[in-house]
Amino acid sequence: MNRVVARSGLVVAGAILAGVWFGGNGATAAPEKDDPAVARARKTVRMLDDVYKTAVVLITDKYVHDEADFPAGSAAIALFSAIEKKGWHSVRLIDVSGEPYDPENVAKSDFEKNAVKALKSGKDYVEEIVERDGKPVLLAATAVPVVMDKCVMCHPNYKNAAKGAAIGSLVYSLPIE
Ligand code: HEC
Repeated sequence: MNRVVARSGLVVAGAILAGVWFGGNGATAAPEKDDPAVARARKTVRMLDDVYKTAVVLITDKYVHDEADFPAGSAAIALFSAIEKKGWHSVRLIDVSGEPYDPENVAKSDFEKNAVKALKSGKDYVEEIVERDGKPVLLAATAVPVVMDKCVMCHPNYKNAAKGAAIGSLVYSLPIE
């Protein structure tokens, strides 16, 4: 009997905590920026960003020799699509330079549009915590600078970019768990 009472007490406490987290009236109270779950999601973004960017540079260095070769950027977009279909996370490679190779790769959401503005003004990382289907999600945008001379072969407009300036961005959407 006592155990049942104790357990139902826990359930009530859990329900109250969940209510505090997600707001009793359906409005979401997103986790704070210093929440450990947010820190974990942020660290995963840093790791993914390093893996994806290192792969693009390696592929460009070893396999892309002229304009007719399959670009690492296209390979990355195909990889992102496969990863998203499997439900891991979503990533978009978008333009910041104002002259995208493919008009599909431009900022579309409000977050992406604001991120492009911030990256243009010199920031190298932008994030926001939102709610999707009742669950908290970390949106994060990282800067893509012109890291190699070879980039200019297919993106002549990158010649005008200041050294280290963002010409593109990787935009992540990752569950906060
Ligand atoms: C062989 C040609 C080629 C090279 C070299 C190349 N790219 Fe691209 N890049 C493309 C193509 C083609 C797309 C469009 C891909 C798509 O939408 O499938 C693209 C897309 C992009 C985008 C997304 C925005 C846009 O313009 O569509 C960024 C950012 C980008 N590339 C950055 C880089 C960087 C940085 C480098 C050097 C490491 C690089 N690219 C090297 C051909 C190239």
